[in-house]
Amino acid sequence: MKYPSLASYLLVLVALQTSQVTSLAVPRPPTLKSRSLLPPFSLPQNDLLDLTRALDVTTKQAGYLYGPPVAGGPYFPTGVLGLAKVAADQALIQLDEAPILVAAAADTTDSTVSAPQYNGLQTLDDYTLLYDGHWKATLPSGPVPGMLTNYTQDLLFSMERLSFSPYQVKRLNPSSDTLQFNVDDNTTTQITGMTLQQLFESGRLFYADYRDQKDLTPTDRYSAACDAFFYIDQASGEFLPLAIRTNVGSNLIYTPKDDPADWLLAKIMYNVNDFWFAQWNHLASTHEVVQIVYLAAIRTLSDNHPVLALLNRIMYEVYAIQPLAELLLFLPGAAVDQVFAYTGTSAQDYTTNLYENDGSGRFQANYFTAELESRGLINSNFGPALKNFPFYEDASTIYNAIHAFMTSFVNSYYPKDSDITADNEMQAWVKESQGPAKAIDFPSITTRSALINALTHMAHLASTSHHTVNTNELLSASSTLPFHPPSLYQPPPSSKGFTNVVDFLPPLDKVEEQFSVAAIFVRPFFVGTNRTLMHMFDDPSMLSRMNSATQSAASTFYSSMQAFSQQVAARTFDQNGLSQGMPFVWKALDPNVAPFSITS
Ligand SMILES: *[C@@H]1O[C@H](CO)[C@@H](O)[C@H](O)[C@H]1NC(C)=O
Ligand SMILES: *[C@@H]1O[C@H](CO)[C@@H](O)[C@H](O)[C@H]1NC(C)=O
Ligand SMILES: *[C@@H]1O[C@H](CO)[C@@H](O)[C@H](O)[C@H]1NC(C)=O
Repeated sequence: MKYPSLASYLLVLVALQTSQVTSLAVPRPPTLKSRSLLPPFSLPQNDLLDLTRALDVTTKQAGYLYGPPVAGGPYFPTGVLGLAKVAADQALIQLDEAPILVAAAADTTDSTVSAPQYNGLQTLDDYTLLYDGHWKATLPSGPVPGMLTNYTQDLLFSMERLSFSPYQVKRLNPSSDTLQFNVDDNTTTQITGMTLQQLFESGRLFYADYRDQKDLTPTDRYSAACDAFFYIDQASGEFLPLAIRTNVGSNLIYTPKDDPADWLLAKIMYNVNDFWFAQWNHLASTHEVVQIVYLAAIRTLSDNHPVLALLNRIMYEVYAIQPLAELLLFLPGAAVDQVFAYTGTSAQDYTTNLYENDGSGRFQANYFTAELESRGLINSNFGPALKNFPFYEDASTIYNAIHAFMTSFVNSYYPKDSDITADNEMQAWVKESQGPAKAIDFPSITTRSALINALTHMAHLASTSHHTVNTNELLSASSTLPFHPPSLYQPPPSSKGFTNVVDFLPPLDKVEEQFSVAAIFVRPFFVGTNRTLMHMFDDPSMLSRMNSATQSAASTFYSSMQAFSQQVAARTFDQNGLSQGMPFVWKALDPNVAPFSITS
């Protein structure tokens, strides 16, 4: 039985929902003047006479319950209020999705009727024609500049690991790691001027490992289960690929010294594994982490609590995604079964395993800089520093601005650390997260800095961390063809020298399914509206009940993000054909483009 085309299926969903798409607002600076009839937010210790506060918490504890996971991961909200919240988030996301699904359907139809222009997709160049005047409704600016012209360059492949897929590669530590495979000295020396051992001992060797994809349940498509070495070149200082091993069939090891078609296929095989990891990992490490901590917050913080007010803002639509993931991605016959190398059920189990057992669900351990340090990507005390690290460059600007906002916010409500321990709702949130909610690695919060870090992390996961690998990034970068198919259409070769890369790429109907799936997550209509990252704290009804220090911190955040947006938007290739040291121009984290919340 053929599953109906994803686009037609999605259109039914749109038709089923009756609400009108509301027009989005024009950009504007935060309004600090509007006044609410509700009282200002306050801490419980400053609000002792308010008896409704305890009643509010009791009501929420009865109405928001920990239900079974939806689409895997942690508990999902149930109970009368929990279900109402999920339904409300779903209603909101349908307003976001409606124009996208219409655009995706139009793009798909256009692609199909334009088929003669692609020459039957017989060459790699034919695949770049897919974008030539097409997919304009969902991807108005086209793939990221450079992606269709420079994809065979090794620097493009390696720098993807330091930009839009930055959560896997790690520097090998010569005093605690071991080399998982060997690349002979002759080959390695020709490529790098050093042997593998010398690279390793000098802290220049990096490793990425996707062998855990080897035994997943396959669809009727194919994949390798690659692991790979990267290195920092002693001459150029560039971060480059050294070798890719397939771990399936003949278990071939490819290097840049191979025939160009063989080496290009090796990089594509790596990309297939990387795409799988990046997408299911982000579900575990962003969505699933914030949603359970937020549920614990709803159940313990009164609606008058400033921290809950802030979380309500940054957790916009958060409970809409798991049901959507289950329906559109994971169910038998849905998107994963249609375009990936492994089944939707495998994807959900893989995600849950990453969440529960593989570290993606940990809260404190995945704090922005701590996590990058743990993989030796920043502040390494061995080996040379990375010459360019675009993800870190952009994400740290945003992270620091969020941290500055949270610092003003927390310090204004809690003049001293003992105010944190005196806040019984705050302490109940911590106890609830660590206890019944079973959030993983949630910190004890007894100081202002601990609260600042926890809130900054929530905002970071819901914005920067998420949009780096998802949202607009899929259709514009990590799911672009010919370099990034989500699966192979031939088994990995058993020997080198006979490779025709096109044989491994999707036919047109599968291309269209791949792009339609990626299109579910794009938000081109948010550009310049109050849904973007620079508006993260610009919520008039929230700010009107906040203190003036917080209002002014929100203005400062807005201004700093506006300035950063101008910088990112102006990015182009330099005289060497590079941008941030990469042969493509990466703008995914432009705060006037990326959403402020985890909205897809
Ligand atoms: C964006 O602005 C519109 C119009 O002012 C408003 O109705 C809507 O709630 C705002 N959205 C967000 C997420 O702040
Ligand atoms: C090293 O590799 C080159 C090219 O593959 C080959 O010509 C040469 O004989 C090899 N040298 C040794 C010592 O294996
Ligand atoms: C990458 O592609 C762009 C055109 O898309 C070109 O201008 C630039 O020079 C290329 N960079 C390199 C390093 O080849």
